[in-house]
Amino acid sequence: MASMVLFEANVLALLSEVLCAIFTEVMQGKPEFTDHLIHKLKHHPGQIEAAAIMEYILDESDCVKVAKKVHEIDPLQKLKQDRYALRSSPQWLGPQIEVIRSATNMIEREINSVNDNPLIDVSRNKALHCGNFQGTPIGVSMDNTRLAIAAIGKLMFAQFTELVNDFYNNGLPSNLSGGSNPSLDYGFKGGDVAMASYCSELQFLANPVTNHVQSAEQHNQAINSLGLISARKTAEAVEILKLMLSTYLVALCQAIDLRHLEENLKLTVKNTISQVAKKVLTIELHPSIFCEEDLLHVVDCEYVFTYIDDPCLATYPLMQKLRQVLLDHALNNGVNEKDAGTLILQKIGEFENQLKVVLPKEVEGVRAAFEAGSLLIPNRIKSCRSYPLYRFVREELGAVYLTGEKVTSPGEEFDKVFTALCKGEIIDPLLECLEEWNGVPLPIR
Ligand SMILES: *[C@@H]1O[C@H](CO)[C@@H](O)[C@H](O)[C@H]1NC(C)=O
Repeated sequence: MASMVLFEANVLALLSEVLCAIFTEVMQGKPEFTDHLIHKLKHHPGQIEAAAIMEYILDESDCVKVAKKVHEIDPLQKLKQDRYALRSSPQWLGPQIEVIRSATNMIEREINSVNDNPLIDVSRNKALHCGNFQGTPIGVSMDNTRLAIAAIGKLMFAQFTELVNDFYNNGLPSNLSGGSNPSLDYGFKGGDVAMASYCSELQFLANPVTNHVQSAEQHNQAINSLGLISARKTAEAVEILKLMLSTYLVALCQAIDLRHLEENLKLTVKNTISQVAKKVLTIELHPSIFCEEDLLHVVDCEYVFTYIDDPCLATYPLMQKLRQVLLDHALNNGVNEKDAGTLILQKIGEFENQLKVVLPKEVEGVRAAFEAGSLLIPNRIKSCRSYPLYRFVREELGAVYLTGEKVTSPGEEFDKVFTALCKGEIIDPLLECLEEWNGVPLPIR
């Protein structure tokens, strides 16, 4: 039982490392936390391994490249240092991996060992009465593994809660709601509640079993390993971690698609504003009236999902900030040129009205193309090393992008991934992500 539990624990630990990398991709985090120099100087092999895996996944990732461009346009939109759940994930996972690995080695020795009592030595014609049945390696390794599993679950929970919270997720919608009307969409709220509950149960299970041993059989057996109890509890912990990882993976896939949608929406908003600006604000005699670049900069610096459900709503940030640009322009030009200021002021209304006519339709068009899978800019995940996991969820398992308008409930999709995880079907796509990795950190550049 302990060996089966450890087989799963090893797979789940690797999966959690790859999910950390995907988390970095969708959060538009900075991949520098995986730089080998950092980990080399800490000496711990588990940490070095975890960081190297994340580094490999993030290297050449199209998601990372897009994020870098976004950060260059507006460096202030982004934290200089990402939060702990992202930035210190190799330091967090490293020791857990070492514990799981040492437990695996211990169980490997144990299942290949001789447990007989008495031990019969034929060559010496002796029966050696002994305690080789004492399963302490099982009890101890299972207790330690369970603690490691709980720590992995805690990290996944920490990342998940940042991902669904629009205060932390760098521009993704609250609860990762995918539909056009947030009022009809609970998004991942249910998943969020479930994750908290899984995490509590997992942390409870982290308590040790081996310290609860009783003296049995009139003090003949004053100490026992409790290996079976501990292995059973670790199997329970594995199952809960699987629930967490499947819920989290579905959320990560949703976030990947939302980034895809976001990029296309942003492009459309910019194109539309550019067209309307050219049409309304270009006047031959007054070239100073034109301020297209400043208007587009507003779009670059504003998270799409803060306004896109009603893009021309006057109280949403997009329209407010566009108006601000035009007003500033009017005030500045009014000083230099008498009529220019008033002229721009007159044009503000027209600009806004034109936008109200075209922008909502354009946005609707992007959403329709998104649902039809025919967006202009392709999904960046396809050019990322983490793609096999995304493809596995969306294509092989058919777990879909979730919106409030769909009849599919998030729970059904979590279940598809959970079932696949229990059948071991995730192993192939997981290893495919690392297929071409040579097993060592990238050279320090
Ligand atoms: C997301 O869930 C939180 C917590 O329940 C809630 O406060 C928030 O309004 C939700 N967001 C949306 C867009 O529904």
